[in-house]
Amino acid sequence: MKIPSLLFSGVLILGLHAHSASGDKELINTAKALFGIIPAKAPAPDKISAEQIELGRKIFFDYRLSKDGSTTCVRCHQPQYFSTDRLAQSAGFNNNKGARNAQSILNLKYQDIVHWRNDRTSIEDQALRSFTTPLSYGNSSTEEALKRFELAGYTPLFQKAFPKSEKPLTLENAASALGSYQRSLTTRAPFDRFMEGDVKAISTQARQGLQEFITVGCASCHNGTAVGGRTMQKFGVFQNYWNVTKSKNPDKGRQDVTKKDEDLYVFKVPSLRNITETAPYFHDASAKDLETAIRWMGKLQLNKDLSDNQVVLIKAFLESLTGELPKNFREAPTLPPEPYAGLEPL
Ligand code: HEC
Ligand code: HEC
Repeated sequence: MKIPSLLFSGVLILGLHAHSASGDKELINTAKALFGIIPAKAPAPDKISAEQIELGRKIFFDYRLSKDGSTTCVRCHQPQYFSTDRLAQSAGFNNNKGARNAQSILNLKYQDIVHWRNDRTSIEDQALRSFTTPLSYGNSSTEEALKRFELAGYTPLFQKAFPKSEKPLTLENAASALGSYQRSLTTRAPFDRFMEGDVKAISTQARQGLQEFITVGCASCHNGTAVGGRTMQKFGVFQNYWNVTKSKNPDKGRQDVTKKDEDLYVFKVPSLRNITETAPYFHDASAKDLETAIRWMGKLQLNKDLSDNQVVLIKAFLESLTGELPKNFREAPTLPPEPYAGLEPL
């Protein structure tokens, strides 16, 4: 949980000559030590894995799997909003409101923590519990959830994707397929090309913003390939977060899960990949735009009043983290046909 201050010892010096060619090289090297590159081409999955990824994709998009056809993963994780929903609180079955702002499911491959409060052990665990949470799918039991997969025509797809399973159609296998699908969704961005050595892949402002992001201290928490997603940290290190965000009924964060004092107001450090596309910000959607979120982070996490220029530069850097949506998320899949009920066609 401690902030790795060691990372910064070499970085402050760097600011002096960031504009020269050697400065650019040094900036790339510093960035590579803190972040990671999303490669242009991921290794192709084997045949079975490809079946599982495609099965997960269909499940992700299939509204027939909820009690009233109102809800499935994509309702709250929409492609046009880079896997969020623009709502302060997502709505599921019967328009039940979720407790927090929906997070993106992109680039989870590069993250260790699941949910704002780290209350799921893996993305498979997350998916498994979704199907039977009455608030989201409206299913009240495992049997009911499984029946919906059967009625929607999934039995043969599970047999194909899990040929070694004695009983292929299970919620565990559905969760496993969703896990494989979500891990396949990554968004390579101009920043990755920059780290590969293409200095001009991001603007001068973005490079200066990267420098600020590191020097000011943002990267002490937002680091790794996803630029976040690896640790839990207190929201409001220097003062109560709601003094600044004006949040009503402050959420206690991880403490509600563990009941430990040290977890009070502790939340997942979110990934900042595609952050320009996923407003509103923070677990309670208290920041409506990115400038505000950047300014508040400076104040709450680092005790710094960022200047307007610093905010502009950091935002330019964050823009360079917005990538391309993978085709298998951008486009809806063809869903399985429901089993033929035996009626003669008209
Ligand atoms: C009703 C809206 C809704 C539906 C339906 C929904 N989600 Fe979510 N999802 C959310 C919200 C809200 C969060 C944040 C929850 C929290 O942390 O308290 C979230 C978080 C997640 C996360 C964690 C991401 C992270 O960065 O930690 C994953 C993974 C995820 N959802 C996957 C799924 C999958 C897979 C499905 C379908 C089986 C699904 N979601 C269905 C709203 C929804
Ligand atoms: C001490 C750790 C820490 C530092 C330093 C830090 N952050 Fe954060 N950041 C967090 C945490 C934790 C959250 C989630 C807060 C919440 O919503 O509960 C967050 C959330 C954010 C968000 C909103 C993400 C979303 O999906 O809603 C942005 C944007 C952000 N940080 C940018 C920055 C910038 C820019 C800096 C530097 C000025 C910075 N952060 C410094 C820990 C940190």
